[in-house]
Amino acid sequence: MEILQWRVLPLLSLLASFVLLYIQTSSKRSNSECSLFPHEQFWILSKRIVTPDGVISGAVEVRGGNIASVIEGDDLQGSVIGGHFLDYGDAVVMPGLVDVHAHLDEPGKTEWEGFSTGTRAAAAGGLTTLIDMPLNSVPSTVSVETLRLKVEASKEKLHVDVGFWGGLVPDNAFNESALDSLMEAGALGLKSFMCPSGINDFPMTNSTHIKEGLVALAKYNRPLLVHAELVPDSHSSTQLNDGISDVRSYATYLKTRPASWEEAAIRDLQSAMQETRVGGRAEGAHLHIVHLSDARASLELIKDAKSSGASLSVETCPHYLAFSSDDIKDGDTRFKCAPPIRDEDNRQNLWNALLEGHIDLVSSDHSPSAPELKLFGEGDFMRAWGGISSLQFVLPVTWSYGLKHGITLTQLSKWWSERPAKLAGQDQKGAIKTGNHADFVVWEPEMEFELDESHNIYHRHPNISAYIGTRLSGKVLSTFVRGNLVFSDGEHAPKACGVPILAK
Ligand SMILES: *[C@@H]1O[C@H](CO)[C@@H](O)[C@H](O)[C@H]1NC(C)=O
Ligand SMILES: *[C@@H]1O[C@H](CO)[C@@H](O)[C@H](O)[C@H]1NC(C)=O
Ligand SMILES: *[C@@H]1O[C@H](CO)[C@@H](O)[C@H](O)[C@H]1NC(C)=O
Ligand SMILES: [Zn+2]
Repeated sequence: MEILQWRVLPLLSLLASFVLLYIQTSSKRSNSECSLFPHEQFWILSKRIVTPDGVISGAVEVRGGNIASVIEGDDLQGSVIGGHFLDYGDAVVMPGLVDVHAHLDEPGKTEWEGFSTGTRAAAAGGLTTLIDMPLNSVPSTVSVETLRLKVEASKEKLHVDVGFWGGLVPDNAFNESALDSLMEAGALGLKSFMCPSGINDFPMTNSTHIKEGLVALAKYNRPLLVHAELVPDSHSSTQLNDGISDVRSYATYLKTRPASWEEAAIRDLQSAMQETRVGGRAEGAHLHIVHLSDARASLELIKDAKSSGASLSVETCPHYLAFSSDDIKDGDTRFKCAPPIRDEDNRQNLWNALLEGHIDLVSSDHSPSAPELKLFGEGDFMRAWGGISSLQFVLPVTWSYGLKHGITLTQLSKWWSERPAKLAGQDQKGAIKTGNHADFVVWEPEMEFELDESHNIYHRHPNISAYIGTRLSGKVLSTFVRGNLVFSDGEHAPKACGVPILAK
């Protein structure tokens, strides 16, 4: 027995060290597939690094996926020599974009979009974090079980980090334990609709449900996002389709969803908003209005509520900033979305509101579908699926159209990184500062390109993008997620190493 031990033990320990070595090298190998520049520690140099304190010339040190230091100076090649570094010269290094409004549609509708395709497009567009909407997948994310299905379906498919909003629906709005468990399972907040969502298992909520939702969210300090359009009582669906002669005309569609619907919804939310004030029943909760299109009466109501102390924010989307109703050709249902794209004056007002700080941030509302549902053949605006597909181009679109309004890199970064990260409770994201995740987009704001079919488009369905045929400024060169170079020069890292983000 003793002799046996004498012989077996060294053999076992030798075997053990081989196994250990194997595990180490294979994990190193797989980690290196996460990045096109696989180094534990390295420097990124640029003459234009967008930091919370302004745009600097200098270097960012990345270590273990985080930002280890940010140093200012014009000639840093000397200090980083001997280490690994990437010198981007004049290209801009900005925090990666955080998109709080993306429909990734998986599980259940991967023929529309999916975690793999959606996050590849994100990486190619300089977005490093997406927050997935709870509807358009099957089932909708309205419970712990359905949230788990999402997380499960996302495994090994994420090229960027992805968090999840849960759904507030009449079925769970009065059930505090259901909402508590959804929050405890890691939903970053809730989303609800004040009008029919078009999805059967995602019914609309009224202002009572919304108040209940806010009260439940208060103790978690997480937001409730609301699609604010209210269909008037006098309106019936027969009325909607009665007397409509030209279904291919955009003006026809625009008339069916007037700005007064947005205004009515926001008016109806007023008392819920007041509950989020200090001393209110929902103090600690936050209300966020998604995809504002009406920059007139609705915006005025939002300004009033903010100045009265409500914890309130609002987003708009690139398509409302880029297009106006006069530009949309008959039958071109790529531009159908809700609320609809409105007139040119309204578009100018949206820009002013953004520049004046009344609109807090921008999100994509990337909402793809199978191309057949867009009914391109018939061009029927009334029956086509509503939703704009744009994820990959939100940075050049916001920049290109914003240039006419004199926007700065710092503003762009606030709208697309800092404020969205804050809304989603991601305090290590959204800014280039020591201790944060090393999430960056490197891009050339001055480089123009024609967005046509020859351009590399990583969307699941390239041709439903609303921006095809436009000339844009701003080309994404590289994207880093937690220190991994996940996209560079048209190439993705071989392995998808983004992580699901669950609130703790
Ligand atoms: C509340 O939700 C839980 C699931 O979290 C469920 O078990 C319970 O039956 C629900 N209660 C009511 C009254 O619907
Ligand atoms: C909202 O709907 C619920 C039923 O689900 C109802 O009890 C409540 O009174 C409604 N609130 C409003 C403001 O209509
Ligand atoms: C887009 O591609 C689909 C096939 O994937 C096709 O059915 C559709 O007609 C195309 N639409 C346009 C506008 O080119
Ligand atoms: Zn949406």
